[in-house]
Amino acid sequence: MVPPAIEVSDLAISYGDEVIFSRESFKLKGYGLTVVIGPNGAGKTTLFKGLLGLIPVRGRVLINGIDVTGKAEEAGKLVGYVPQFKAEDYSFPINVKEIVESAIALRRKPPRIGFPREVRARIREVMKMMGIWDIRSKPLLELSGGQRQRVFIARSLVWDPPVLIMDEPLTAVDPIGRADLVKMIKELAENKLVLVSSHDPSFFLDKTENLMVVNKRIVALGSPKEVLKEDLLSKVYGRSVFLVEKCVHVVDGYAI
Ligand SMILES: Nc1ncnc2c1ncn2[C@@H]1O[C@H](COP(=O)(O)OP(=O)(O)OP(=O)(O)O)[C@@H](O)[C@H]1O
Ligand SMILES: [Mg+2]
Repeated sequence: MVPPAIEVSDLAISYGDEVIFSRESFKLKGYGLTVVIGPNGAGKTTLFKGLLGLIPVRGRVLINGIDVTGKAEEAGKLVGYVPQFKAEDYSFPINVKEIVESAIALRRKPPRIGFPREVRARIREVMKMMGIWDIRSKPLLELSGGQRQRVFIARSLVWDPPVLIMDEPLTAVDPIGRADLVKMIKELAENKLVLVSSHDPSFFLDKTENLMVVNKRIVALGSPKEVLKEDLLSKVYGRSVFLVEKCVHVVDGYAI
C-alpha cells in the first residue's frame, strides 16, 4: 500500500471578511502523528474542515494524490474525522452502536434498512478495537468523555481510512480516559497518517513526527525539537508561554 499523504497548496479560507488562512502550502507524508497546536480561535478546526471539504476553500488539497478540494464526499472516503466536542451537539437520543453505524448508514442510498453481514462484522470489529462493544446499547448522553471519544473514533475507522483527523480528542476527558485515548491514538498512527489538534501536545510528544503551530496562518511545521522554542511560541501565545527551568535527574544507583 502507498503511504498516505496530504498535500496542500495555496490554501485560503475566510469567513466573510475574516481571513483565517491565505495561501498556505504544506505537505505531510507517511504514517505517523502530526499534532496541531494554536490558541483558541487560531483556526485549527477551520483548517481541518478545509482539508475535509466541509467549508469552501481556495487553493488545492490533495489526499493520496487525489484532488479533494471542496469535495466532502471524496475526502470522506480517504479521511476519518473525529469532530471537536461541543456539548450542545450531543443532546439527541442515539445509542453507541447507532453512532458507529451512522458512518455507513449516511452513505447508503435509501432504503437504509439492515446491513450486509460483512458490514456488521466490520462495525463489531472497530467497536471491539475501541473497547465499546460492551456498551453498545448505551445512549450517547450517558457516556463519559473518554467513552464518547472512543465511539466517535470507532465511527471514523469504519471505512479504514488511510488518514485520520481528530479535533481535540482529549477535551472533556478525565485523566484515566485520557491516558487510554492517547495510547490508542498513538497505535492508530502506526499505520495511518493522523492529524490531531490538542491544547497540550505533551501527551503526544514521544510519538510526534511533526508539530504544526497555527495562528491564523501556519506559523511553523517541523519536529517538536524544531518547533518547541520559547521565542516562536511566545509570538503565538504571548504571555501564556513560560520556560520551566531545565531539570536534570541522575539515577546512578545511589539511594537519594
Ligand atoms: N462558521 C463560522 N463562521 C464564522 N466565523 C467562524 C466560523 N467558525 C469559526 N469562525 C471563526 O474563525 C476563527 C477560527 O476558529 P476555529 O474554530 O477554526 O479555531 P480553533 O483554533 O479551532 O479554536 P479552538 O481552540 O477554540 O477550538 C475564529 O475567529 C472563529 O470565531
Ligand atoms: Mg477548534
